[in-house]
Amino acid sequence: MAPKKTAADPLILPGLHAVPSHLASTVLHCPPEAHIPALQAALLDWFAVHQRALPWREKYTPYEVWISEVMLQQTQMERGVAYFKRWMERFPDVASLARAHEEEVLRLWEGLGYYSRARNILRAARLIMERHGGCFPSQEADIRALPGVGPYTAGAIASIAFGASLPCIDANVERVIARLFDLDSPVKQEPAASRLRELALLLVPEGKAREHNQAMMELGALVCGKKARCGICPLASFCSSLHLGIVHERPVPGKRAAITPIEVVTGVLFCQGQIFVQKRLPSGVWGNLWEFPGGRLEPGERPEAAIVREFAEETGFTVQVTGKYGVIRHGYTTYRITLHCFALSLTGPAVTSLPAPPVLTAASDWRWLRRDELDALAMPAAHRKLADSLMMQNARQGLPGILSAR
Ligand code: ADE
Repeated sequence: MAPKKTAADPLILPGLHAVPSHLASTVLHCPPEAHIPALQAALLDWFAVHQRALPWREKYTPYEVWISEVMLQQTQMERGVAYFKRWMERFPDVASLARAHEEEVLRLWEGLGYYSRARNILRAARLIMERHGGCFPSQEADIRALPGVGPYTAGAIASIAFGASLPCIDANVERVIARLFDLDSPVKQEPAASRLRELALLLVPEGKAREHNQAMMELGALVCGKKARCGICPLASFCSSLHLGIVHERPVPGKRAAITPIEVVTGVLFCQGQIFVQKRLPSGVWGNLWEFPGGRLEPGERPEAAIVREFAEETGFTVQVTGKYGVIRHGYTTYRITLHCFALSLTGPAVTSLPAPPVLTAASDWRWLRRDELDALAMPAAHRKLADSLMMQNARQGLPGILSAR
């Protein structure tokens, strides 16, 4: 049997394996552990030329780094930049954010998901004002103590804003390191997870953590993506998995979480030209967001029956279905949600005024609103889509055009 090949094996030379032709004449720097200063320098040189112009890279204030990092955990760069700019126009510093109402913060965050992150950002801003006199803490332990700040965000703020020699490990960095060092088991699990943290720390050059960490993330986003562009990679000569010809096998995939399909109903209750909305209880993923009432279908239940039942349970109102708008499909964490959307009216004799207040069981507040007033509320993405289609309907006096028919 042929001996197992490793990146450290001196027999692994250009030409013998799947090393791209442009590397054939390049000096190999494998294994990368033996060439850390050269690797760091190659990465920093590349970043100096290829980094994207991003708004938080102008001043690197801790506040801007913090907000951008949390947003980028939620979304792609282009969308992240748009959200960031809108946020900074409204809340240019910690003090302006700390004074804000939660509802406005949630509205600005709307569409990014994981709303507890927005609530925690607000709590952290208030805490920075109260405990740190409005000055962003610079030590990793103090940053980590802020609500909602985990190891990634603390490392990112401490290194990118304050220059601390700490790594930032996001999915891009995991991919880069798994390929460079040929980690041969899933990176989110032991033993690879610890090894990856060790290597990430080893790679941070003293005094250059800001540039290095961003360069690692940038490389993962622009070059060492899911589809690796090894031909333009500044670290190609250091990359163990490239030399072994197995870049496409790294990182080793972990177990995928099972996807659970669920069916949910919601209803827009009209009365006297107004629409009923309720504010969800503070806990849970959509805590404190506004919505049209509704909930999950019970086994064997028809959506039309489910919405009538849900309305009675959540508000005490007895309603009837007057139309179906269609369905909204969206994914949330491991759920694939199908949301059936209905138009509703109150049952009984023709109503001449708004009904008595609801008896809420799943919400902390309620309102009757005109369609155009829906714009000001922070809502979960699917309810926002429905609200937007209702507002468009108002403008065009036609049927909502955004929802699919079934
Ligand atoms: N992804 C998350 N934070 C980033 C940053 N500062 N630069 C590039 N990509 C990132």
